[in-house]
Amino acid sequence: MIVVTGAAGRLGRRVVQLLVDRDREVLATDQLDADDLPAKFVRCDLKDAQAVGDILKGAEAVIHMGAIPGPLREDPRVIFDNNVSCDFNVMMSAAELGLRRVVFSSSAFGMGWAHDGNAFVPRYLPLDEEHPMMPFEPYGLSKQVGEDIGRMIARNSPTTVVSLRFTNVALPEVQAEFPWPAPTPENPLTLVMWAYADARDVAEAQVLAVDAEIEEYEAFMLAQPSSRFNEPTIDIVKNNFGDRVEIRDGLSGAASVISTEKAQRMLGWRPRHDWR
Ligand SMILES: NC(=O)c1ccc[n+]([C@@H]2O[C@H](COP(=O)([O-])OP(=O)(O)OC[C@H]3O[C@@H](n4cnc5c(N)ncnc54)[C@H](O)[C@@H]3O)[C@@H](O)[C@H]2O)c1
Repeated sequence: MIVVTGAAGRLGRRVVQLLVDRDREVLATDQLDADDLPAKFVRCDLKDAQAVGDILKGAEAVIHMGAIPGPLREDPRVIFDNNVSCDFNVMMSAAELGLRRVVFSSSAFGMGWAHDGNAFVPRYLPLDEEHPMMPFEPYGLSKQVGEDIGRMIARNSPTTVVSLRFTNVALPEVQAEFPWPAPTPENPLTLVMWAYADARDVAEAQVLAVDAEIEEYEAFMLAQPSSRFNEPTIDIVKNNFGDRVEIRDGLSGAASVISTEKAQRMLGWRPRHDWR
């Protein structure tokens, strides 16, 4: 059985459907009611450690997406407290109950999303898993801490953990507005938002991550292959950062500033959707 947290959410619903389509046994959970899901559903606040333990009993894996999904929706204290508490309860119980795999929804916002679009200057581009996480605000920090909780349980128990560090999921109505005007120093856009993710491809990665062969702990960046803009990415980088950013291979044309080479190599993930 695979437990899906955050199952009433935008991504959770897709992941539940995909697992059911592939004949996997699913237990869906969320703090909100979601009786319309095509799987057994249990309502649960993941901040309740006892309830989380009850739900995970007998599970093989958990795809953990339950969280406040961005920095702008609640007071930062509420976001940090909710997300870290949910992550700790889910991953501690998973380790104690001997689950084989945790798939954790991290975020590229933990790499450096900032209210000030000029604040995050990457060390190099494209961003990959080796680039330090440099959160500027508590939502990103909650994801960095969540990844650390995953590293800790993977080090300390047989449970293996995959963190999917995907960037902002652009729904079809947002993708319909692309291309966006390219950012400039006067009208900046925080770098991780130059890239976008498609919910269908992110859901596919969540399912692939349940069975992928990994040891202990791995994090993967996820984004669509191209940017939100029409202009060549290197031109936008130079215009916004001058020579302050090392430019590595993989940024030709309108390529994304996020490399997904590791996810393609180790998860077998193939992003299929592009707004163009
Ligand atoms: N949407 C994005 O752009 C994006 C990008 C990167 C990472 N993520 C991460 O992906 C995951 C899913 O995001 P989404 O866009 O589907 O968000 P969503 O808000 O649509 O779904 C998240 C679900 O989590 C549930 N939840 C929150 N706190 C809970 C708690 N204490 N107990 C039980 N359930 C709780 C909510 O009720 C909600 O249904 C989140 O972890 C989010 O941080 C999202």
